[in-house]
Amino acid sequence: MRNNTLVISIMLGALILSSGCETVDVTDSANRTELSSETIETVERKIVDIDVPSGTVMAGEEVFIRVQILDTNNQTQWYETGFEFYSESENLYFQDNMIRLPEESLTDDIFRVEIAYETMKKEIILMVANPLSQTIDDKGIVSNPTSYDVLINKNRSLPNNYIPNDLVTVEVPTCLPNPEIRQLRLVASDALSEMFSVALEDDVELVARSGYRSYATQASLYNGYVDKYGQAYADKYSAQPGTSEHQTGLAMDITAESVNLQLDDNFGKTKEGLWLSQNAHRFGFIIRYPEGMKDVTGYFYEPWHVRYLGVNLATNVYDSGLTLEEYYLTLENQ
Ligand code: DAL
Ligand code: ZN
Repeated sequence: MRNNTLVISIMLGALILSSGCETVDVTDSANRTELSSETIETVERKIVDIDVPSGTVMAGEEVFIRVQILDTNNQTQWYETGFEFYSESENLYFQDNMIRLPEESLTDDIFRVEIAYETMKKEIILMVANPLSQTIDDKGIVSNPTSYDVLINKNRSLPNNYIPNDLVTVEVPTCLPNPEIRQLRLVASDALSEMFSVALEDDVELVARSGYRSYATQASLYNGYVDKYGQAYADKYSAQPGTSEHQTGLAMDITAESVNLQLDDNFGKTKEGLWLSQNAHRFGFIIRYPEGMKDVTGYFYEPWHVRYLGVNLATNVYDSGLTLEEYYLTLENQ
């Protein structure tokens, strides 16, 4: 019994030794090449799928990613760890398999993210939309008043006493003495300066008339209209306090000498008004209250009132030919 065991063990040892000599002979380079190409052919690892939420993502939202790998046994397997993210966007936050979008992300922003697993890489694209239904409370107050893509109208008010914290005095020609209304939020003011100087190069002289208006200023303006013409009339032209885009610091009324620096429908037909309607989007602004759209926007035509949205969103809204309200509705089901 003891002898038999000994014999078998010697035979196994010989076998292992002989097998080892054949496969691990590093001096035989031809044999080695043949072996590695065989390995790649039978066990090619790659990322075969990436699980990302379908549709669009909101500002500040956390997105969880899973990656499916074809593993060494030629089986697919989902991984939640072990892969890395890379994006050119510095303000994307990554942790484990989570990507958090920046709070300041705007509707129509796009983030490209590279996902790497060992030597493999794939790219995913995250599209931002801040839908109307997700940015309002049950009292009709918006939850994103500081966002450049906020939608304010008769049904969507600013929080009580909202004041933007980055107001600056605009650096373009203005025509009214009140220092408050010569302000805009910093980014909108810079965009306005650029727009006015490019307009001048085209021989178009624009004048800023009324920008930021506090709740109190809007209240006195609106109440003035009510006292003079009655509420029904006032509501067609002037926003009730708390519902004016002017309180966001992102809207500016623009005029020109050709209409005596007034806010006049005819401004839309002047050289300046036409230039504004055709070019404002290049600087991040839209004509917020187009002609014939009162049923949608709540207001008659205001060719003078521009609203800052950032170049990307403003250009998309301009190209769509829709009002801001309609544009947002098209995103709602994505
Ligand atoms: N005229 C615009 C609608 C406002 O008062 O905000
Ligand atoms: Zn206005």
